[in-house]
Amino acid sequence: MVQDKVLTNNWHAVVLAEDLPPGKITTVQVLGQDVVVWRNNDQITAGEDRCPHRGTSFARGWVKDDNLHCPYHGFAFNTLGQCIHTPCQPDTPPSKLSRACFKTYQVHERYGMIWVCLGTPEKSVPNIPEWENPNYRRFKWNGPN
Ligand code: FES
Repeated sequence: MVQDKVLTNNWHAVVLAEDLPPGKITTVQVLGQDVVVWRNNDQITAGEDRCPHRGTSFARGWVKDDNLHCPYHGFAFNTLGQCIHTPCQPDTPPSKLSRACFKTYQVHERYGMIWVCLGTPEKSVPNIPEWENPNYRRFKWNGPN
């Protein structure tokens, strides 16, 4: 992962908001860091794409009851990245479960995009005054494919 604080403490547009409806998960790389981004009914969450149980990517996981579920053993994580349920040991007390957690990142939705900051944002998401100006055209670029 890139260690430059100017970059890690800044915002990066990682996915179009329309491509992340409620219940959807996507994974991206930000500054060399694998990041999972998901939206439940209330909010968007971004975090390290590495399950704290056995290190699996969340890419093929699912969102249920507003929580992220790992595709390998089905552990459920809340929006703080804390484990809240293990299907194999459903009676495990919450205090013990929450020790299994992954790092979450600052996330923000603006200009039709999801923005992530891996560090501590020193400023808000960049201001783009042209966004609301009808004299400018918006278009979606799907990359070099
Ligand atoms: S690797 Fe994620 S629950 Fe086991």
